[in-house]
Amino acid sequence: MKNIPNVMIIFGGSGDLAHRKLYPALFNLYRKGLIADNFAVIATARRPWSHDFLRGQVKNAVNETCEQIDAADLDRFATHFYYQSHDVTHVDHYIALKQLAQKLDEKYDCHGNRIFYMAMAPSFFGTIATHINDQKLLGTGFNRLIVEKPFGRDYETAEKLNQEIGASFDEKSVYRIDHYLGKEMIQNILPLRFANPLLKNIWNAEYIKNIQVTLAEKIGVGTRGGYYDNSGALRDMVQNHIFQIITLLAMPAPKNLTSDAIHEAKQRLLQGLQIPSYDEVSKSVVRGQYLASEHEPAYINVDQVAPDSCTETYVAGKVKFTTGPLAGVPIYFRTGKKMLEKKSRIDIVLKAGSDLYEKANENVITIEIDPVSKIVLRLNGKEIVGTGLRIEDLSYAFNAEEMHQVPDGYERLLNDVFMADRTNFTHWMELAQYWRYIDAIEAAWRKQNSMAIKPDQYLPNAFGPNAADNIFENADSYWIYR
Ligand code: BG6
Repeated sequence: MKNIPNVMIIFGGSGDLAHRKLYPALFNLYRKGLIADNFAVIATARRPWSHDFLRGQVKNAVNETCEQIDAADLDRFATHFYYQSHDVTHVDHYIALKQLAQKLDEKYDCHGNRIFYMAMAPSFFGTIATHINDQKLLGTGFNRLIVEKPFGRDYETAEKLNQEIGASFDEKSVYRIDHYLGKEMIQNILPLRFANPLLKNIWNAEYIKNIQVTLAEKIGVGTRGGYYDNSGALRDMVQNHIFQIITLLAMPAPKNLTSDAIHEAKQRLLQGLQIPSYDEVSKSVVRGQYLASEHEPAYINVDQVAPDSCTETYVAGKVKFTTGPLAGVPIYFRTGKKMLEKKSRIDIVLKAGSDLYEKANENVITIEIDPVSKIVLRLNGKEIVGTGLRIEDLSYAFNAEEMHQVPDGYERLLNDVFMADRTNFTHWMELAQYWRYIDAIEAAWRKQNSMAIKPDQYLPNAFGPNAADNIFENADSYWIYR
């Protein structure tokens, strides 16, 4: 299906996200025929750009990211873009924006449909939402709001933002983006779990010993010191990406594959999310900060980072539920900057158990998300020479052609917004629970800071603080990826 007419207003249209992700994604949808000619995009930001200048930027963005571009296609695409210089705190600017949107709506026959995209500093999300409401920017057709992360910085601020947004948009019209939910192998979790009796029947506490989610990055904080020092790995990666992955892994079977049913199943699970006490955080959560490498400074020496900062660039921890098929099963996670390599993966460790073969290894199912899409099944097999057992890995990695076919996450998610499919967006009820968990850890860390207990320092290009090896409940458990 295609041809969903709309005027899209991007707040933050001169920013990095729009340039790297949104413009190329829109172009790909356009050339695949998934958006037709009755659409217009208004990019807003403070800079005094002209429409033509914006169109040049859009073309640059597309040229930098997309391949095999037809120049005429790109020219046509760029004519749909309009620029409006905009100060988000300035009432008059919203009136000008509204008028431009109405004009373009008529010109492109957009049926009064509006998509608002908040792609700028989160501190302005609430202000924009309030002005959209007060200055009556909503169209007469559908109105959808796309919000980038972070959605708040704790439960309280998230709830306030949600209320501000709620004045103009009901929950069904709010699309909270988590770009991990647009990734191929994340979207593959439910099919793998529920389309294969092989996995479906062992996906419970009787067979699964633990699950390990690793989102490791090779890069450091780079030029994002100002943002990052206020956030840290827990808010930057765990509150959203890691929790969404864990939710998909631990949720009960949805009644069907509709967006409502999937969100309902996620919420059923999250009602049983265990919020850790101070003692549990001390025992099973590890935070770290990277030290200097040959070419890059230590985290605390990064520009705009406080020299006595306690912000974590690494965190490892444990999540448990009292509900769902994995009730009681520890789900470990870790994420960090400046690790050995870029690696996003999930390891599902099964309990070892064989009456006949005492030395049988644990089966492990690995789902690799990035940089390659891959599934590995670790089995026991017979030693070729001798009578013992050896580990045999059955592995399926996407080939180059398959990798090439995988659309970028933003392309998928933007298309979902056009199609009003909310499956791969974060519902408020999910977010609220995630924040409750994060707040508990942040509170424990504040207490630790006051007792001069600081994050562990770790060497770059490795696996983070050694203390993370000791968070397992069972003495014989260890990180599979190490
Ligand atoms: C973002 C974080 O949400 O995800 C970044 O803000 C992080 O700090 C990025 O680098 C990682 O995403 P990906 O897709 O590269 O794994």
